[in-house]
Amino acid sequence: MSIRNRTRTPNGVHTDLALRVASERPPCGSARLDQTTSLALRHALPPDDRSDATRATRSGETGSTTNEALEVNQAAGLHNLFSAARTSQQEELDVFHQAASLRPVVPRSRITRTIAVAGGKGGVGKTTVAVNLAMAMAMAGRDVMLLDADMGVANVDVQLGLSPIRHMGHMLEGLCTLQDLVMPAQHGLKVVPGGSGVRRLAKMGNGEHAAVIRAFDELRQPPEFLVVDTAAGVADNVAMFAAASDDVLIVVCDELASLTDAYALIKILAHEFGVRRFHIVANMVRQAGDAKKLFEKLARVCGRFLDVALDYMGMVPHDEWLRQAIRRQGAVVDLWPSSRAAVGFKQLAGAVDTWGKPAYPDLGRIAFFSGQGLPAAGW
Ligand SMILES: Nc1ncnc2c1ncn2[C@@H]1O[C@H](COP(=O)(O)OP(=O)(O)OP(=O)(O)O)[C@@H](O)[C@H]1O
Ligand SMILES: [Mg+2]
Repeated sequence: MSIRNRTRTPNGVHTDLALRVASERPPCGSARLDQTTSLALRHALPPDDRSDATRATRSGETGSTTNEALEVNQAAGLHNLFSAARTSQQEELDVFHQAASLRPVVPRSRITRTIAVAGGKGGVGKTTVAVNLAMAMAMAGRDVMLLDADMGVANVDVQLGLSPIRHMGHMLEGLCTLQDLVMPAQHGLKVVPGGSGVRRLAKMGNGEHAAVIRAFDELRQPPEFLVVDTAAGVADNVAMFAAASDDVLIVVCDELASLTDAYALIKILAHEFGVRRFHIVANMVRQAGDAKKLFEKLARVCGRFLDVALDYMGMVPHDEWLRQAIRRQGAVVDLWPSSRAAVGFKQLAGAVDTWGKPAYPDLGRIAFFSGQGLPAAGW
């Protein structure tokens, strides 16, 4: 797959690429493993885990992407029902956007590093990791933007107590720009909400995913970091957003289906998109030893069947404070910075600078901020 000689259409979609992506890639809507891999994975695991593997593989236990989304943005309505009234939020947003339009355009030489948070399986903590990683980096003084790419069932805004009035659908229809979607959160974090309960967002095609990725080229103020929260499963939307990023952070938890689904996603990204390096974080684990064991299981199977490098990025423990923070619609790193989970997220955020240069920055794939200038030297 090459993106050279691509054609830009008025709505920003590189049509030839989108069509080629659509035609070259087989449909892969579920995270089920092929039989050989599943067998191999079961052999690499202790006996106790094997029955789970069989069950998970048979039932196709994967992420939950609902098809029951409605045509209206129900989430906005729900926010209004469940959240405290935020009468001044729209006014603040208007001021924020006016200020953004007055700021000088940053020269294109600035490079944004994009980190996709993925995992294959639903409910492993992808959104929680994306929100807290982005917030921890913002709290450390970095310029961070968080994109909710779980379109149609997006919930970054819910976790952060934001009530977006526009969504990606409006941008794709030309009713607003990406810049208009950007919302300010705590500590200077900027959030691009994905939109929830909108059927057409849940059914976006590859051309529309490409248009969303391309839209970031037009931002007046490209951030230093873009963190992308992806959906569950291994469908095209997840693969495209992950492959378009500089780094892929895979979240796993201590469930066999989490490992099998993470493997399935890594395999697709490696085979079909040429992604060779993955950062792994273990979430909701009890102790560091459990996290390391999880990583080793995944690394053993990937090392046997795939040509990829896996980096262990540490763990985030299971922590009730985190659930409290979600109930309070805030990030645990902000609300309870000394909780065990917050410490894990801060260590993860602190490690980002040690990740080194992306392994395949110029593979000829569609990528976030590829309209920016080329990196001068390193990161
Ligand atoms: N470290 C943790 N400790 C305790 N609870 C956690 C932790 N991480 C995540 N959770 C809880 O697990 C649930 C799922 O988390 P989250 O929504 O982040 O998962 P997800 O992978 O994004 O799910 P989906 O695939 O549906 O998008 C949430 O209720 C969250 O509060
Ligand atoms: Mg999520």
